[in-house]
Amino acid sequence: MSRNVREEINNRLNIVDIVGKYLTLKRSGARYTGLCPFHNEKTPSFTVTPEKNLFYCYGCHKGGTIFDFIMEIENMSFSESLKYLAEKAGVEIDKTYSSGIDNKKRDALKELYKRASGSFQYILKNKPEAANARKYLENRGVSESILEEFQIGWAPENRSWLTGFLKTKGYSEEFLNESGLFSKRGLGYPLFSGRIMFPLTNYNGDIIAFSGRTMKDFGPKYINSPETLIFQKKRNVYGLFNAIKSIREQDYFILCEGQMDVIAYHQAGIKNAVAPLGTAYTEEQAAMLRRYSDKAVISFDGDSAGLKATEKAVMINEKHEIKSEIAVFNEKEDPADLLLNKGEKALHKILKSTINSFDYILENAINLSDIRNPEGKEEVILRLNDYINSLTSEVRRESCINVIAERIGVDASSVIRDIKRQNRQPGNNRQKEAVAREQKPRGITAELFLMIAVIVSREKYSFVRGKINLDDLNDNRAREVYIALEESYRNEETGLDSVLNRIADAALISLIAEKVTSEEYSINSDELIKDAVKRIKKSSLLKKREEIVRKLKGISQNYDGVVNETELLSEKIFIDQEIEKLRLGI
Ligand code: UTP
Ligand code: MN
Repeated sequence: MSRNVREEINNRLNIVDIVGKYLTLKRSGARYTGLCPFHNEKTPSFTVTPEKNLFYCYGCHKGGTIFDFIMEIENMSFSESLKYLAEKAGVEIDKTYSSGIDNKKRDALKELYKRASGSFQYILKNKPEAANARKYLENRGVSESILEEFQIGWAPENRSWLTGFLKTKGYSEEFLNESGLFSKRGLGYPLFSGRIMFPLTNYNGDIIAFSGRTMKDFGPKYINSPETLIFQKKRNVYGLFNAIKSIREQDYFILCEGQMDVIAYHQAGIKNAVAPLGTAYTEEQAAMLRRYSDKAVISFDGDSAGLKATEKAVMINEKHEIKSEIAVFNEKEDPADLLLNKGEKALHKILKSTINSFDYILENAINLSDIRNPEGKEEVILRLNDYINSLTSEVRRESCINVIAERIGVDASSVIRDIKRQNRQPGNNRQKEAVAREQKPRGITAELFLMIAVIVSREKYSFVRGKINLDDLNDNRAREVYIALEESYRNEETGLDSVLNRIADAALISLIAEKVTSEEYSINSDELIKDAVKRIKKSSLLKKREEIVRKLKGISQNYDGVVNETELLSEKIFIDQEIEKLRLGI
């Protein structure tokens, strides 16, 4: 499979040799430095770390693996860079990539996924062992017809079930090992067991991957299929096949965060919703959706992570000439919650009162700065700079600039001059500061810090996953890394490459490359990690506690919801105990 090829190439090639063809590198300690090929500079800020096979530029913040380097410098796609580097490494990829064999294998994989999915579905519907799952789905408001439509199933708890079942169908061990359904340990270890199975289909309706949700309170909430010959997560979205017709009819698509949100919309009769599967929204996904409509409603969670993700999605859409509107949710509420708490009407209402993406981004920028003073005004422009640059229409650019100017009380011509100046000087200190605050190194949250520390000391991951769930993480970038770590862990891959390859966000890859290169995370890592785990766990518990207290107050003020007071109270007691344990260091 291509992942092994990728690993093999990465193992055989030394990044110093590859990069050395394009620029002069000088050794300094464990690293090499040189003049960055990706931006203009006079003093070297480009570094290469052979030990990790990574590059990173402190000037323009580009960084990553040898594949990232070749893609960037040769302007190649990933698969082109793979072929190019395979040749240099003397790794044979003809077998996997020659199209005849490929097509056969693809068909066989699709057949396999269809079979597995059919059985998962059958089990959910009919078997006593799936009774709890049926109950769970019912409680979350998922109807029979939605179960059918989305082919939802149950993967048995028994780990030998899948192997046994597939063996009777005559699949070879080698083929099954490469199928993405089993961990690297072998056929006795299916990736999915004891989980509700959500198949992901391509535009054609073929099942190409799964996402499995646990009903337990520990372990990763969702596990997603690894990349295979038929599945690239950055190129697919959940629910597309079910949504295509409606996207065309309605002439817009709704972009959600997760499968349950897509399902919630369908449940409310709104059928044009899709969601990325365990990654941030990517350019490739936008390019694909653009074939069906050039209008989107972005429907992410209402918290600060959701806000950032929304802004990013707007810009990605902009790049692909997709116009975005924003559906606004309360903090910590998503479409699935809303449907359950307030019913279908609430979802319809949200779609009727979407906000124009520019207004949304402008108001957020203004809320973050104090526009009564001159610095605050300039800061607004800095914050909006990326967005304005992403606008493809001159007319819209100009009208946005006019609105901004009026909103902060300056002349449009000054706004234009400021933007030009900021663009001309990527080294501009103020801009650097603003950018840093927002998304780059300095803006690292405790959560992202922990994730990077774990990337550096991978052997600690099994400890961390025992303590921290995805649910404990609010920072979207930390979540993306966690998912990548978890998926590599499940696949028993330990290389740095295995994590980076599962991350879609290029800026995040660069950031990780920088941090991994800088060594600051490897000193005293034991303590750092333990400390961070504790802090994150604590703040997550406190948040949950707050939530419960709020709900309990709601009850005493004659709240007529269906919340169960005893349940809440016992949950609160449990959380208090956990907090106490943390405090005592147990
Ligand atoms: P959320 O944690 O918001 O999940 O993650 P959700 O959609 O609200 O799920 P429910 O309602 O609790 O069931 C959003 C999306 O991120 C991905 C999934 O695609 C999920 O729908 N994700 C989340 C993972 O891939 N792995 C995880 O462990 C968690
Ligand atoms: Mn959610």
